[in-house]
Amino acid sequence: MKNILVTGGAGFIGSNFVRSLLAYEPELQIVTLDLLTYAGKLENLSDLPSPERHTFIQGDICDRTLVDRILSDHAIDTIVHFAAESHVDRSILGPMPFIQTNIVGTFTLLEAAKTAWAGKSSKFRFHHVSTDEVFGSLQPGDPAFNERTPYDPHSPYSASKAASDHLVRAYATTYGLPVTISNCSNNYGPYQFPEKLIPLMILNGITGKPLPVYGQGAQIRDWLHVVDHCEAIVRILRAGKTGETYCIGGDNQPTNLEIVRTICEILDRKVPRADGQPHESQITYVTDRPGHDFRYDIDISKISRELGWHPSRALQTGLEETVDWYLTHPAWVDSVLQKQDFSVWMDANYQERN
Ligand code: NAD
Ligand code: DAU
Repeated sequence: MKNILVTGGAGFIGSNFVRSLLAYEPELQIVTLDLLTYAGKLENLSDLPSPERHTFIQGDICDRTLVDRILSDHAIDTIVHFAAESHVDRSILGPMPFIQTNIVGTFTLLEAAKTAWAGKSSKFRFHHVSTDEVFGSLQPGDPAFNERTPYDPHSPYSASKAASDHLVRAYATTYGLPVTISNCSNNYGPYQFPEKLIPLMILNGITGKPLPVYGQGAQIRDWLHVVDHCEAIVRILRAGKTGETYCIGGDNQPTNLEIVRTICEILDRKVPRADGQPHESQITYVTDRPGHDFRYDIDISKISRELGWHPSRALQTGLEETVDWYLTHPAWVDSVLQKQDFSVWMDANYQERN
């Protein structure tokens, strides 16, 4: 790994990944390719360590000419592919960008990577960042997802990610492209766009707005701190076997309501409401997400055994730190909340559920 292309590096996980790599890999040059959609923010990359080793390029992963030029101009030997439309609710209201970016975009990158790799040494890697949602939904008592679980995606988002996973495997099998894939559970932590459960609850909690819990809040997710996810990807790049898939998760099983109540309890301690009421009084039960997956649980024994990776942060500690991060970054929060698209989207999603 010398010259690495990170797609989607101005998004939530991608920007945390760029920051970690610059801090821990002193020889590496990083190029970020990001379209800066509503979810991408240059501010996410503003406080990088060793910024002279990072180049930002605004552009679309579907633009083959641009991708070819980046791979060639920067002698890229490693691609870590985060760029995607990532929000399930948006995929339900408008699936088209998910098909374009997640499927056509991944295909475009694979074609460009195949050409670049063919002209290079065997030292090349395409790492595809995917999700546990491709495996569908578990009922109580079902065994956790693992690398051999059959695909059963339910939302337009997870179907588009499943399609991209299949394309990546097809390029490995058919053309021998050196790929690895990771399927990870729900991430949380700094720089997450507040359309997702945890930052939405923190920011609505602080500002006295309703905390919209879908259905009865009984659904279960496995939560992983974003820095742990980034560390797992670095291990896969360093020591993962090409052609292999690795499941990544946080080894916990809270219901959505438990997560929201925990955030409320943290806010009660750190920023009590002026009227003395608990933040839980803001919880509002709203219409459930259509096709809502009930439970995700992910078996991390392969990556633990083969690469020695384990999640390092307990969920309670990670949530406390995440609340602190949102409380201490008001300029970042303001710039996100002021984005025109954000308020339009939040209103549309909320109306859909009331
Ligand atoms: P995000 O929405 O925060 O960021 C996505 C980034 O991709 C944004 O910066 C956006 O501008 C960029 N982008 C979108 N379309 C693009 C295009 N056509 N060309 C170039 N850039 C484009 O997403 P995230 O939560 O950071 O997720 C990153 C990846 O990780 C995704 O592939 C997602 O499927 C996967 N993943 C996310 C989670 C999670 O909990 N967030 C869990 C497992 C896997
Ligand atoms: O499992 C990995 C996936 O996790 C990633 O692939 C996705 O990119 C990421 O967005 C996430 O998907 P989810 O749909 O699980 O995340 P979200 O934060 O949108 O929702 C988490 C749970 O909380 C889910 O059961 C729906 C519920 N929810 C969500 C929102 C935004 C609510 O109850 N209220 C809300 O307002």
